[in-house]
Amino acid sequence: MRIGIPMESAPAETRVAATPKTVGQLVKLGYEVVVEEGAGAKASYPDAEYAEQGAEIVGRAVAWAADVVCKINSPIDAELDAMSEGATLIAMIAAPRSPELLDDLAKRGLTVLAMDAVPRISRAQSLDVLSSMANIGGYRAVIEAAHEFGSFFTGQVTAAGKVPPARVFISGAGVAGLAAIGTANSLGAVVHATDIRPEVAEQVESMGASFVAVKVDEEQVSTDGYAKEASAAYAQAAEVMYAEQAKVSDIVITTALIPGKPAPRLITEEMVASMKPGSVIVDMAAGAGGNVAGSVADKLVITSNGVKIIGYTDLAGRLPTQASQLYGTNIVNLMKLVTPDKDGVLTLDMNDVVQRSMTVVGNGEIMWPPPAVSVSAAPAAQTEAAPVVKAEPKKRDPRITWGVLGICVLALLAMFWVSPDKLLGHFMVFMLSVVIGYYVIGNVNHSLHTPLMSVTNAISGIIIVGALIGLSTSHVGVPIAILSITGILLASINIFGGFVVTQRMLKMFRKA
Ligand code: NAI
Repeated sequence: MRIGIPMESAPAETRVAATPKTVGQLVKLGYEVVVEEGAGAKASYPDAEYAEQGAEIVGRAVAWAADVVCKINSPIDAELDAMSEGATLIAMIAAPRSPELLDDLAKRGLTVLAMDAVPRISRAQSLDVLSSMANIGGYRAVIEAAHEFGSFFTGQVTAAGKVPPARVFISGAGVAGLAAIGTANSLGAVVHATDIRPEVAEQVESMGASFVAVKVDEEQVSTDGYAKEASAAYAQAAEVMYAEQAKVSDIVITTALIPGKPAPRLITEEMVASMKPGSVIVDMAAGAGGNVAGSVADKLVITSNGVKIIGYTDLAGRLPTQASQLYGTNIVNLMKLVTPDKDGVLTLDMNDVVQRSMTVVGNGEIMWPPPAVSVSAAPAAQTEAAPVVKAEPKKRDPRITWGVLGICVLALLAMFWVSPDKLLGHFMVFMLSVVIGYYVIGNVNHSLHTPLMSVTNAISGIIIVGALIGLSTSHVGVPIAILSITGILLASINIFGGFVVTQRMLKMFRKA
């Protein structure tokens, strides 16, 4: 089958659905690939590189006449007119908001796979373009904020005085929010974040931010990987929290979204008015109605008190090279799924939940919405409302505690009394090492504990020293020799194995 990669027609679109690298991968799956002349130019992918990877550079009409057309945005009428009968279109369709487009696609007898309808299940993560684009969007949101912000992100002590770090507050810790947290944190800002789903607190903290919880007695449990709408009680408590955060933050980035619903309004006009002049807000949901009062899609608005509100909806497209590479890889992963025999023939399996969810039109029939996919690890419903009886913690008789403590002190004094001076010296060294070890290891980052432990395996080098001393005595017997050699062998494995594991783990922290 032939895959066509046309140039995007939207004037502001900078991305392309395939890069030279992904074209090579599609060719390996057995497809013939045609790329419209200049399709990758805005994303810095020249035609010659596509040709090197096995693509044929063609005119617009040929690219659109392919058996499978892969693109980024929904097609316009002229593009659909150029498609062959029974062809397959792979693109972002925004099905919930585009009933007329779905009708049109069905009337034309096409099959349409919506890249923005991938269910949020772990198996489908490699094809999830919304996640890929949100990841880039979150990163770029911080870069845009930094560009508009008049100060450093990181705190500095300079000859001219001390500069405090910027305080960044991020609302919504989904894909975009977590990417924004990571980026702001790596630029040195002090980052705080919140989300309607309290279970993401751990992820927020692992990315280097402090989680700001909304104090309300209700639980938000996700069954499809997305949040549910907030209750009135939650919204009220959240408003208080947002008002507090707005006052003290230099940068606010909002990413809150509930699929199929207009974006929740989180930052009110009063909150914007309470922010310091020069503060920056990036409303990533500006295209879906906005989380922030006063944000305008695709515009930078400066309020009367000097707060800059960024509402750009093309944040991923502002990194076109990277965004095209990730989008193209998502398409390759989809093509791998629908080309099980690597024979260049697209075969859809409607029993596969991922393929079914993405197929919004199948052979001219509207198949949207797909059956619901449940992905949550939601707690099982309680079968019996048994009264919970909390066991009262048993109070220990204080006389027993003091008795045990007294016996320990007496035993210690007795030990000091009868022990030779040498042992006392060793004991003091041991106690001091416990104290020093406690403080040293306590200050090591948690993520480095495993490499640290594997390096401490080297302590078993003392076994090797002992075994060598044993072997060096003149009248060493066979059993001692066997024991010593075995000890040396095992301790060596332990030491060298520890260093190998450490190296492998440290590699994970290296950037290049
Ligand atoms: P996501 O679904 O992974 O994350 C959204 C997060 O918002 C979830 O963690 C959810 O629990 C949270 N949330 C929902 N309602 C909330 C509330 N009332 N208060 C606090 N948190 C709440 O979505 P993803 O992929 O991270 O995208 C986030 C937003 O960014 C979307 O609106 C998306 O359209 C937008 N986006 C914008 C781009 C741009 O160029 N402006 C680029 C990419 C994404």
